[in-house]
Amino acid sequence: MKDLEYCRVLVTGASRGIGKQISLDFSEKKAHLILTGTKSSTLEKIKSECLAKGASSVQMVVVDFLTDSLDPVASACKEGLDIFVCNAGIYKPGLLCTGSSDTKEKRIYETIKVNLTIPMVLSSLISPIIIKSQKIRERSHLENIGALIFINSTSTFWPSPQESAYVASKAGLLGFSDSIFPELREKGIKVCSIHPSYVKTDITSDMCKYGGLDSKKILTPKDVSDSVLWACSTSNTCCPSMIKLETQKTP
Ligand SMILES: NC(=O)c1ccc[n+]([C@@H]2O[C@H](COP(=O)([O-])OP(=O)(O)OC[C@H]3O[C@@H](n4cnc5c(N)ncnc54)[C@H](OP(=O)(O)O)[C@@H]3O)[C@@H](O)[C@H]2O)c1
Repeated sequence: MKDLEYCRVLVTGASRGIGKQISLDFSEKKAHLILTGTKSSTLEKIKSECLAKGASSVQMVVVDFLTDSLDPVASACKEGLDIFVCNAGIYKPGLLCTGSSDTKEKRIYETIKVNLTIPMVLSSLISPIIIKSQKIRERSHLENIGALIFINSTSTFWPSPQESAYVASKAGLLGFSDSIFPELREKGIKVCSIHPSYVKTDITSDMCKYGGLDSKKILTPKDVSDSVLWACSTSNTCCPSMIKLETQKTP
């Protein structure tokens, strides 16, 4: 397995849930972290936790993907980056074709923007930085640890009328990650789409409270984070391009 010590990692949506756990686990590798979220107060707390866990440095970028420019994210990475964990996402369920809600159009645009458009644009801005950073590592006789990891969902494979915008955004994201892999593979950069089933975070809290989902049987953020670090540390001859994480028992 590759040694990820001191890797430089960008995690979007690092303030809560899965992104927070990924940031903490990379901290144990003494990583240099760039973390995004929409609120500086929350990111400050995560920054302290990451430094306490061993992170070598933590840079915070406060950015709302619905309204803000991505320039600050790209410029935070410009000194060099090894791994991009594209995690931030939103889940806004509801019928789109027969429901009467006047927020339908807004939900569609917002879901596609945060879950699909932003990951595509960020990947296009950040991949050249990762490629250049790996060339420099290789010249210094360090291993190529370049990777783009997309936190997708098993919803991609479970069409559902209540989740049509979310499913469309995640299916599009899989199409994107599969499409850029051939572009990046010869550069030694891994591209991996990770598809968890239900995970115990804010997204599923109402499903557990009111929807009969058993919180003891669903995945934890740690289950997802473990798969991220595993994917990044696989050898130079292997790229796990897609990982599906099902719950062990029906929740
Ligand atoms: N939980 C599940 O069951 C599950 C299952 C499969 C896949 N996933 C995927 O896993 C990823 C993480 O989900 P999670 O469960 O950890 O969700 P979460 O706890 O709701 O956290 C979402 C993260 O995304 C950020 N975010 C949301 N809207 C944003 C915006 N407009 N601009 C910038 N950042 C924004 C949030 O930042 P703030 O804290 O600043 O709002 C937060 O850090 C998502 O892509 C989700 O689709 C989740």
